[in-house]
Amino acid sequence: MQTARTLELLRNSLSVLRQDGGSIALVPTMGALHEGHLTLVRRARQQADHVVASIFVNPRQFGAGEDLDAYPRQLQRDSELLEAEGVALLWAPAPDQVYPEDYATNISVSGVSEGLCGAERPGHFDGVATVVCKLFNQVMPDMAFFGEKDWQQLAVIRRMARDLDLTRPHVDNIHGVSIVRETDGLAMSSRNTYLSPEAREQAASLPRAMRDAISALAGGGEADQSLGNLQEVLLTSGFDSVDYAELRDADTLAKLETDNGNARLFVAARIGGTRLIDNMPVS
Ligand code: PAF
Repeated sequence: MQTARTLELLRNSLSVLRQDGGSIALVPTMGALHEGHLTLVRRARQQADHVVASIFVNPRQFGAGEDLDAYPRQLQRDSELLEAEGVALLWAPAPDQVYPEDYATNISVSGVSEGLCGAERPGHFDGVATVVCKLFNQVMPDMAFFGEKDWQQLAVIRRMARDLDLTRPHVDNIHGVSIVRETDGLAMSSRNTYLSPEAREQAASLPRAMRDAISALAGGGEADQSLGNLQEVLLTSGFDSVDYAELRDADTLAKLETDNGNARLFVAARIGGTRLIDNMPVS
């Protein structure tokens, strides 16, 4: 596996890959890789001839007071994991390769980026859209893979690709990959490493409470009632607060009062100083 840390090296390595012919998939990450990321890489390998992974902890998607400095950075370990999965090229840019000193451009996607994590983390999705657009333009992949744990992020990226007529990749080639869960159901996340053993155990109540709420909703229950119960369960199970628990249309992300046949449940809640998010289909 080649590793590129400058744009010049990236371009050289990509042109060598392209000489071989075949398709290129991009798997963008911020590192601290877990089984969820490796699942993205495996899916990418099934669908493309060459896989490029990127690791860049993007400062523009962290708000003031968020965990930018504490975010786990473990490039050596990540790079070994990616190599073992058959990744051809690792793009791990130094910050100035993404944001040179006079960098001035922002991409802002309205609509799907509002509400849910957009309400709690102002500017977060601008940062995501901006860096993903840059990564797409730097690598020019035929396809790209993102985890569905960040369902709203995926919706933002697809809308950006559609609205800006991106061709590499085309919106139809931006693929979502199902959430990978621990054996107790907790969605895998780089932030799970922040949890104390006690908080980690309590955190498993999140997917359990979501499944209970989904049974109620799928049985025709009102969102208000089922989501109110869900919040109560989380607070009595050790969560400190619930940022949101909402029923939304899976595609438009419009808020729903009852299951419309395409509903998804979205939750963000805080435990021991860590913010966890999850989402599940209702229909
Ligand atoms: O999901 C992530 O890890 C990040 O938001 C992404 C897509 C790599 C952009 O920095």
